[in-house]
Amino acid sequence: MAYEIASIPGDGIGPEVVDAARPVFEDVAEQHGFELSLTRYDWGTERHLEEGAMMPDDGLEELEGYDAILLGAVGHPDVPDHVTLNNLLLPIRKGFDQSICKRPAILFDGVESPLEGYDGGDIEFVVYRENTEGEYANMGGQEHPGHDHEVAIQSAVFTRTGTERIVRAAFDAAAEREGHLTSITKSNAQAHSMVFWDQIVEEVSEEYPEVTVERLLVDAASMDFIRRPEEFDVVVASNLFGDILTDIGAIITGSMGLAPSANIDPSRTYPSMFEPVHGSAPDIIGEGVANPIATVLSGAMMADYLGEEAASDDLWDAVTDQLADADAPRTPDLGGSSGTEDVVEDLRSRL
Ligand code: NAI
Ligand code: MG
Repeated sequence: MAYEIASIPGDGIGPEVVDAARPVFEDVAEQHGFELSLTRYDWGTERHLEEGAMMPDDGLEELEGYDAILLGAVGHPDVPDHVTLNNLLLPIRKGFDQSICKRPAILFDGVESPLEGYDGGDIEFVVYRENTEGEYANMGGQEHPGHDHEVAIQSAVFTRTGTERIVRAAFDAAAEREGHLTSITKSNAQAHSMVFWDQIVEEVSEEYPEVTVERLLVDAASMDFIRRPEEFDVVVASNLFGDILTDIGAIITGSMGLAPSANIDPSRTYPSMFEPVHGSAPDIIGEGVANPIATVLSGAMMADYLGEEAASDDLWDAVTDQLADADAPRTPDLGGSSGTEDVVEDLRSRL
């Protein structure tokens, strides 16, 4: 098999981690007898500053023919974040109907959690985040600029289709894992959208009698991600709540530099996109110390999505092996003093 992958390294440490991870993906493909051809697109804030747009007008058409997309990060200190996000990342997620965002949080052996008393294997859950609507719907506006009565309105959008498909995907995952689903809402305060969400969870749960369902309000969930993370298995949440909770999930399992994600169009009409959870990390740009593991694991999720499960397992195993080895190179976010390239070379030697 030959797979065509669009690589969009983006901004900041995005190119550092995506370009560094590339040989790891090429190695694993060769070992498993498939071809992985990566075509690199220099889209992002540099392009925006030079040409006035993060990507070309026909950017989505250009991407449509690929088997998958590998993205680094977007975000630049000189450009407001809503401009970078709304003109590259969100158009791809929404335009390609990547409704399911899957974000595992795993505490690996050999990685120190900031939470006391947790060792490798103690935390292992996955967040299913709604990815095309909810609080990140582009609906609203601003009126009366410059006057005392200036106003901004941003509406959240919860459709039955959008809510049902993320909830069902999470139930499917729970049925295959430990059979425990936690649904996160704020239905005490948001009596329309979140009560609707609860209603759909209730309806879908009838199809999954083997899955136990727990409901948490997002404020309590933020606390419980820290107080009792070992009790979560599959967590399902709206776009905003899932976004926030997965940063907590990343840091309690050691580092933003370890957290991968998949943005999936389950219908496979469009290419799905794989990207580390982290952003462009302007505080460490150019130092060569960005942790490439979140990107490598995002590539592992991509291989799995492409049907190359054995290659995916090998990537997970190489990372697990490296992190468990106290003598292996580590980037500073994990308390080490090695660089991105050292970590990549070591991973290649373990494949
Ligand atoms: P961030 O994730 O870029 O950085 C947060 C902290 O984690 C920083 O201290 C950073 O050094 C560290 N970190 C992140 N990735 C790392 C890695 N691979 N290795 C080692 N350390 C790592 O989040 P922040 O600072 O809130 O945002 C920076 C920019 O990134 C902003 O412009 C923001 O809009 C953008 N952003 C983009 C995202 C995306 O493209 N998906 C997601 C989050 C933020
Ligand atoms: Mg985020």
